[in-house]
Amino acid sequence: MAPRSSTSAPLLLSFLFHLLLLLLHSANPNPSPNTRRVYSRRPIRFAEELIGDLNLLPGIEEVEGGDAIEGFSSPRLVERRLRLPILGDIGSEISVEQLGHHAGYYRLEHTHGARMFYFFFESRGKSSDPVVIWLTGGPGCSSELALFYENGPFKIADNMSLIWNDYGWDKASNLIYVDQPTGTGFSYTTDLRDFRFGEKGIANDLYDFLQAFFTEHPDYLKNDFYITGESYAGHYIPAAAERVYRGNKEKERLHINLKGFAIGNGLTDPAIQYGAYADYALEMGVIGQDAHNTIDKIYPACKLGIQLCGSSGVISCAASYILCNSIFTSILLLAGNINYYDIRKKCEGSLCYDFSNMEKFLNEKYVRNALGVGDRKFISCNPLVYEAMITDWMKNLEVGIPTLIDDGIKLLVYAGEYDLICNWLGNFRWVNSMEWSGQKTFAESPMAPFTVDGKKAGLIKAYGPLSFLKVHDAGHMVPMDQPKAALAMLRRWMNGSLTEDQSIVMAADA
Ligand SMILES: *[C@@H]1O[C@H](CO)[C@@H](O)[C@H](O)[C@H]1NC(C)=O
Ligand SMILES: *[C@@H]1O[C@H](CO)[C@@H](O)[C@H](O)[C@H]1NC(C)=O
Repeated sequence: MAPRSSTSAPLLLSFLFHLLLLLLHSANPNPSPNTRRVYSRRPIRFAEELIGDLNLLPGIEEVEGGDAIEGFSSPRLVERRLRLPILGDIGSEISVEQLGHHAGYYRLEHTHGARMFYFFFESRGKSSDPVVIWLTGGPGCSSELALFYENGPFKIADNMSLIWNDYGWDKASNLIYVDQPTGTGFSYTTDLRDFRFGEKGIANDLYDFLQAFFTEHPDYLKNDFYITGESYAGHYIPAAAERVYRGNKEKERLHINLKGFAIGNGLTDPAIQYGAYADYALEMGVIGQDAHNTIDKIYPACKLGIQLCGSSGVISCAASYILCNSIFTSILLLAGNINYYDIRKKCEGSLCYDFSNMEKFLNEKYVRNALGVGDRKFISCNPLVYEAMITDWMKNLEVGIPTLIDDGIKLLVYAGEYDLICNWLGNFRWVNSMEWSGQKTFAESPMAPFTVDGKKAGLIKAYGPLSFLKVHDAGHMVPMDQPKAALAMLRRWMNGSLTEDQSIVMAADA
């Protein structure tokens, strides 16, 4: 999810100013070990709101059912076995009792007091299946959105029962969901300095988490490892892949068997993707030619801002964020009440969909006890994590990718065709224009049908380690709209080729 910005320029500046004050304040050279007292001596209302919204502080020591997750003497990673009842057919030879479902907190190493929450679901297939980590975007939206509505092992029924998902990605992988960056979902911190403003800090935290995870689960180190996710994770994923790749190259710590990364309807190369909004909207009949021409006039300034953001930093990053997003906002104004994640639909609910069952479920007492999250309130998307990332938004994450794919790490970029916010056209354009050793051959490769059960489910373009897939009949959340095709995509991509059967593709091409 990438919730649409509601930030106006003055609000943004005031936010940045306050944040600066808070940072200066929390960088106090004589920090008290009791951070709670430090903050309460300064009753800045803004800070209090921030703290409340970030799941900061209150009741940390009193966390109920969160045994052993607190305190400096506690281990870095505390994981518990989940025993939530799940209805329906597990669809596996493995019994529910044998199948490991876990939730845990990892005390992030290079922070002052941040804890990262995660789920780990052992594969319903084989334990030798790849390990896959999923990252939801936002920034600031919980990966539980994907767990419960897209590709998790189970879904939530209206009566709050869990039901097995026939197309959960845990059918083909050992699947991890993390709430990140700090402040997202059930992840929290006791210290404002742990706040992340960009990809470097986020990727480092994730790398620390992965190291702790594989230390806890050494049996999985030999498995293939893939990083996946959606939307703003188009930023997180390349950064995380690059971080793991570098850690491996430099033999920093445990070698993580990174084989590839997949970005679903992501934001990766803003300069190209913001240039595609008006074209996509015109092509899909969301706006007319005149509106297209008018909106397109904003683009050159937006593009310049993005270039400056890449070279000169914070101010141009914030300015280009505001300017470029006016392109998107203008389209929405003309389009009326459309769901910008799926232009066939209307926008209903704060995220344009109704995800209220998840918030209800995760705020149930017995669920919290099972997860070990205490009384921490769950919100799907944290606006403050989002705001803190505004100067990261226009950064180009494509730049680090060529090194990885030229070294044989696979990249899959996929996009549901009806998503506006991270539309397939913008993604297709950046993938095509990326400079790497196979660029020319990739560009010349034809689009081939992606078939699932003999039916056309999308269009593939692939060469070597790079694949692009346009998914039919889907919006922003591909595994929600096309669960069967999405699972087939994951399986085939990890296993070498997206095309089900070479002969069918040849016939269709001829
Ligand atoms: C809850 O809903 C599911 C799916 O609709 C159904 O199978 C189950 O029996 C229901 N449980 C209760 C307690 O009503
Ligand atoms: C992967 O591909 C090979 C060869 O095409 C096939 O035999 C195997 O069953 C596939 N594995 C999975 C998990 O789909």
